[in-house]
Amino acid sequence: MSNQHIAVFDSGLGGLTVLHALRERLPHEDYFYFADTRFLPYGDRSEHFLRERGVVIAEALARRGAKALVVACNTATAAAAEAIRAAIDLPIVALEPGVKPAALLSRSGVIGVLATTRTLNSERFQRLVGNHANQLRVVTQACPGLAEAIEGEGPGSPLVERLLDEYVAPLANAAADVVVLGCTHYPWVAAAIARRLPEGATLLDTGEAVARQLERLLAAGGLLSGGSGHLRLATSGAPQSVGATIDRLLGRKMHVDHWEP
Ligand code: DGL
Repeated sequence: MSNQHIAVFDSGLGGLTVLHALRERLPHEDYFYFADTRFLPYGDRSEHFLRERGVVIAEALARRGAKALVVACNTATAAAAEAIRAAIDLPIVALEPGVKPAALLSRSGVIGVLATTRTLNSERFQRLVGNHANQLRVVTQACPGLAEAIEGEGPGSPLVERLLDEYVAPLANAAADVVVLGCTHYPWVAAAIARRLPEGATLLDTGEAVARQLERLLAAGGLLSGGSGHLRLATSGAPQSVGATIDRLLGRKMHVDHWEP
């Protein structure tokens, strides 16, 4: 792998939904994807923990030669984006729930947001809603257990179905016409979420917008490369079991290394 790769991290494998959008838009870049599986789920952890962990990871990724960083985790962004920006001197794209595009798209004036408890309780999220969705009704729903269930049991498992029944119902009852997938794990179950919403409801995830933003930043810094599109995957957890989860999610075998920031 060249020293000119893009580093991407998440608490686990949710960020693969973002990585997919990055590789679609920037197929010639090399990528290093880090799943901080040892500490999954981030959604139940304290802001203090996530800020410190986010900085440790970002500094280690910068040291191993990344030319840009994508924080492919709404929860990590909510707690640590500012600290990460202060700690490392790289172009950074940090994902946050697509409240702004949702507000622009909504006709009914009711939008829904599915995210982790930590994201929804953050000051950053409150600011996002205050700045962009002040005139709308914003129905938020925390989804404890969902990211772990998607990884541990699989997107189509009975546990995931049960959690979605519970978490999507308040949004459907409020007749939200746009629903923000405010956690990068949730695109894995987008179809199951859509089935539980009124017909015609739009689901929004931020993968493509993040890819466009990364492309802009790389172009502005003269950092776009015509490389081989190489991908390396690593986890702070057990590589074999993370590999098995990837196989279940993507239907393909991929090599995963152990890496400790
Ligand atoms: N994928 C993460 C996000 O986008 C959160 C999952 C977790 O709780 O670790 O917020």
